[in-house]
Amino acid sequence: MKKIRILTVIGARPQFIKAAPMSKAIAESPLLEEMIIHTGQHFDHNMSDIFFSQMHIPKPAFKLDIHSQHHGAMTGRMMEEIEKIILQTKPDVMLVFGDTNSTLAGALSATKLHVKVAHIEAGLRSFNMKMPEEINRILTDRISDYLFCPSDHAVTNLHNEGFLSFPAHIYRTGDIMYDALQFFSPYAAKPIGMPEDVKEGQYVLCTIHRAENTDDHHRLTNIVSALNSVHAHSPVVVPLHPRTAKVISQLNIKPLFHILEPVGYLEMLYLLDHCNMVFTDSGGLQKEAYLKRKNCVTMRDQTEWTELLECGANRLAGARQEVIWDAFEYFSDNAFQAPQNLYGQGNAAQEIARVLETI
Ligand code: UD1
Ligand code: UDP
Repeated sequence: MKKIRILTVIGARPQFIKAAPMSKAIAESPLLEEMIIHTGQHFDHNMSDIFFSQMHIPKPAFKLDIHSQHHGAMTGRMMEEIEKIILQTKPDVMLVFGDTNSTLAGALSATKLHVKVAHIEAGLRSFNMKMPEEINRILTDRISDYLFCPSDHAVTNLHNEGFLSFPAHIYRTGDIMYDALQFFSPYAAKPIGMPEDVKEGQYVLCTIHRAENTDDHHRLTNIVSALNSVHAHSPVVVPLHPRTAKVISQLNIKPLFHILEPVGYLEMLYLLDHCNMVFTDSGGLQKEAYLKRKNCVTMRDQTEWTELLECGANRLAGARQEVIWDAFEYFSDNAFQAPQNLYGQGNAAQEIARVLETI
């Protein structure tokens, strides 16, 4: 029997984590087969290969090695190569995740060649069109045939934008990162290089990498100052994205907190399990904090994960020192409280595979 052929495009760290449960569900289906394109957007060992080995993601059939360029050049170069691969492999459906340049390049190349597009993590909105991610996710959603939403708000956003009158299929499957978190949590591993003086249950876990913070030296300086102040009270542990590491080295302020190399997913699960709260500008980490029942301070002006603000498990602090400090004090005094299952049951990959089997 002829199988439904899925061409998956991934390229950045959060996409490897989302791809792991999806590739497993596809491999387990007798009706589906997958070929993976790795665009190369992320390329350091700890930003890419480590996830393939730790999470048993199938080896990519195509590696493009396209990275470290401005948005237009990066997306355009990716499209050029992905188009050739689509023409060569003739897939039944293109599968893309999230909101990176690799996502948009995959979706746009496919739709121009009349290949159906399935978007996992559809419907999210920050309503800030200055964010590259917002542009990527709006455009990807609009040209997708199958929209897999992680939350009720994501479905509502699509309805509000008129998607019910488009020929697209919308599903509320829950969040595929929950699948990954559930499956891999038993294998959580202490990071090598974890500072000796950092005690379990007594540190703040932090990541910073978003363009809105790293491209604005004033914002990043404020964030570093705020983290220095917090670190004086509770150790702050930051596995640092290479983008942020580069900019911090040019700032006129010295970070006093603990900086680690970016860590693998199993190490991140350990850090999440044992921290007392999370500070981040990451999308994925905000959800993972909730799933691990940790309060989260989001160092951005908006978030797509608005249900976390509504239930009080997440506070927006922007990049203002005093607001970040206030949020730290608030969560130091207030235990985590939030309803369960905001992001489904952790079986999104299975549900998505069942839909893909009908394409
Ligand atoms: C990208 C996504 C962002 C996502 C993030 C996940 C876009 C527009 N942005 O941002 O939504 O949250 O990935 O981590 O797609 N670099 C390295 N080594 C690497 C990867 C990156 O040194 O392995 C450096 C390069 O100098 C590069 C810079 O980081 O120029 C930025 O990388 P890029 O992929 O453009 O954006 P991210 O900030 O990683
Ligand atoms: N992550 C990781 N190692 C790190 C930092 C993050 O494994 O050093 C994981 C994190 O747990 C989450 C995902 O990467 O699963 C989030 O990716 P990132 O913050 O890079 O991107 P975003 O979600 O903001 O797009």
